[in-house]
Amino acid sequence: MSRNGHTITTTRIHIMALDGIVNVNSLFTLALFLGLSWYPTAPDPTATLVTDTSCAASSSIAEDLIAFHVYSFSSFLFSSLIASAVKQTIKRFDNHKDDDSVGSVRSAPLAHVNLAALRAGTLVSGFGSVFGCGFLMMALMDLVQIKLGVLGCGNLHTFAAVIPLGVGSDKGVKFVRLHYSNESRKSMQKENQPINLLSFPSAWNHLSFPSKWPSKYLKIALFVKKWPHRSLAGGLERHALTLHLALAKRGHELHIFTTSPSNSSFPRYPMSNLYFHLSKPTAAGYLDQAFVWKQFQTQNSTGKAFDIVHTESVGLLHTRSRNLINLAVSWHGIAYETIHTDIIQELLRNPDEQQSYALTERITKVVEEVRFFPHYAHHVATSDHAGDILRRIYMIPEERVHVILNGVDEEIFKPDPAKGEAFKQKFGVSKSRSLVIGMAGRLVKDKGHPLMFEALRQMFVENGTFRQNTVVLIAGDGPWGARYRDLGANTLVLGPLEQAQLASFYNAIDIFVNPTLRAQGLDHTLLEAMLSGKSVMSTRVASITGSVIVSTETGYTFSPVVASLKNALYRVWEDGRRVLELKGQASRQRGLQLFTATKMTAAYERLFLCISNDNSKREDYCRYQSPFN
Ligand SMILES: *[C@@H]1O[C@H](CO)[C@@H](O)[C@H](O)[C@H]1NC(C)=O
Ligand SMILES: *[C@@H]1O[C@H](CO)[C@@H](O)[C@H](O)[C@H]1NC(C)=O
Ligand SMILES: *[C@@H]1O[C@H](CO)[C@@H](O)[C@H](O)[C@H]1NC(C)=O
Ligand SMILES: *[C@@H]1O[C@H](CO)[C@@H](O)[C@H](O)[C@H]1NC(C)=O
Repeated sequence: MSRNGHTITTTRIHIMALDGIVNVNSLFTLALFLGLSWYPTAPDPTATLVTDTSCAASSSIAEDLIAFHVYSFSSFLFSSLIASAVKQTIKRFDNHKDDDSVGSVRSAPLAHVNLAALRAGTLVSGFGSVFGCGFLMMALMDLVQIKLGVLGCGNLHTFAAVIPLGVGSDKGVKFVRLHYSNESRKSMQKENQPINLLSFPSAWNHLSFPSKWPSKYLKIALFVKKWPHRSLAGGLERHALTLHLALAKRGHELHIFTTSPSNSSFPRYPMSNLYFHLSKPTAAGYLDQAFVWKQFQTQNSTGKAFDIVHTESVGLLHTRSRNLINLAVSWHGIAYETIHTDIIQELLRNPDEQQSYALTERITKVVEEVRFFPHYAHHVATSDHAGDILRRIYMIPEERVHVILNGVDEEIFKPDPAKGEAFKQKFGVSKSRSLVIGMAGRLVKDKGHPLMFEALRQMFVENGTFRQNTVVLIAGDGPWGARYRDLGANTLVLGPLEQAQLASFYNAIDIFVNPTLRAQGLDHTLLEAMLSGKSVMSTRVASITGSVIVSTETGYTFSPVVASLKNALYRVWEDGRRVLELKGQASRQRGLQLFTATKMTAAYERLFLCISNDNSKREDYCRYQSPFN
């Protein structure tokens, strides 16, 4: 009997403890729930009291804050649930005892089991609460750091706020040690360490620059051989147009030195901070250097001097550029990259065609470039590979080589299935076709059309199923257009498309193929297709495999020979629409992260600000701190 009595009293104590736990837990759970639901998703930078940006808490701290909040919440909830469950069990056994007068014989063993389970349950529940408190403490410390600056900064207020939290309870101190151990403190500081942008080795597109209005307006000179009439222009001209119109829209003063078009009509833009200075081209079509230099000097001495000079390729020759420190040149293909093109062309050459001179002269050209490139102060490579060559082969000091990948207008090129369907209907693409292959651009040899033509021709002959189930949409014109038409009814050559049409075209296809043979520069069409959410396929050249199709996650690559291209096309077909859609989604993600015009413009703007740092005003645009959000 005494044993029974003992059991009952301990049980009472257990119940009281459990009640205590549940009460405390409920309070905390409610508080945490409110805290979680009121926490703004995008932290307002003005909500912090930190003035020194190097002390601002990184986004990982904000993430931790939320994570600990959630852990704490779930720990309390878990603890409460266990406690309630245990209480239920006790109630049940108590009832048994009350109802059953046989009592001691049956209840003793029951009570025994009860006690062990009870102890375990209470313990687990208690631990749940302790963990809840621990996580809550960590969440609070993160909050303090966000508001008052990180611990590593040694702000007195931060410590004053954090130490009582830690000392308040033993377990708190333990959690402080756990959380801010030597290792994590080191990694935290490293993450927060500002970097020098000028020697940043990868593409600036990976960084995020605030998109608010620029903190300083620049007067920018641009030298470009030709200003395009329409946005359909390719490569260099397209880049010049997209970037500089965007910079002008952001309020910078743009002076564009370019050649006057032969038919004397020049596009007009409704912007008062955008000036064109036209000149007659030389016989070879280049900018008349002596003349544009005079134009430049005149503009440099009227009003403010130029903050920055940008030249698209050799728009401004090195003989003029050599003394300018605030200068950046963008390369859209350098001779060393072109060696790969020459090799491909030579391999694909018909025996009756004459051997190209380029092959033998290219090395001389590279050596020439290696000699004169250093006369430009800063270099912008449009692919990671070109950046590497500039540093390694051209031996330009790394703090003068910057990689900024091309970007295309993300407002125009985006997923829109409805437009895609309409486009297919318009051109009579039947729904029974299970694969729509798309190509766009000039239909010339350089862009790999002989290769694509041959691959498709062979596949249509050897595989009837493939022929019946695919359709090839080709946007653009050129000598290969007529030949594609001869391939049969499932090859549609659409001619050149306006930008809006082109956007619909990308939405209509399942995969975009760019069989280019040019290893230099970075084609815009691939980027447009990616932003439209399409899987892409292209030739294995370093600029593309190094910066665009870096893995099979987004698409396919092939060697520039017919067999390899056929293999890749068959693989696409076997993979089917579902796989292509997944790859398309991955493409879109990568595109948004790296290839938007906004990203490119922000990177260039920051580069220009950095190069024209005014030391007397202690400006430091070359220092990059990962932003809070
Ligand atoms: C923390 O790391 C530094 C540098 O690695 C080392 O010198 C120091 O002894 C470490 N401190 C503790 C407490 O481990
Ligand atoms: C002027 O020439 C450019 C190319 O040289 C062409 O794109 C444009 O349409 C022409 N404009 C007119 C009005 O003929
Ligand atoms: C442009 O003007 C500034 C200020 O007058 C001068 O320092 C600079 O040398 C000029 N640049 C060139 C290339 O003449
Ligand atoms: C056509 O190609 C597909 C995919 O490679 C293959 O599965 C199929 O057997 C081929 N059909 C013929 C008739 O060769």
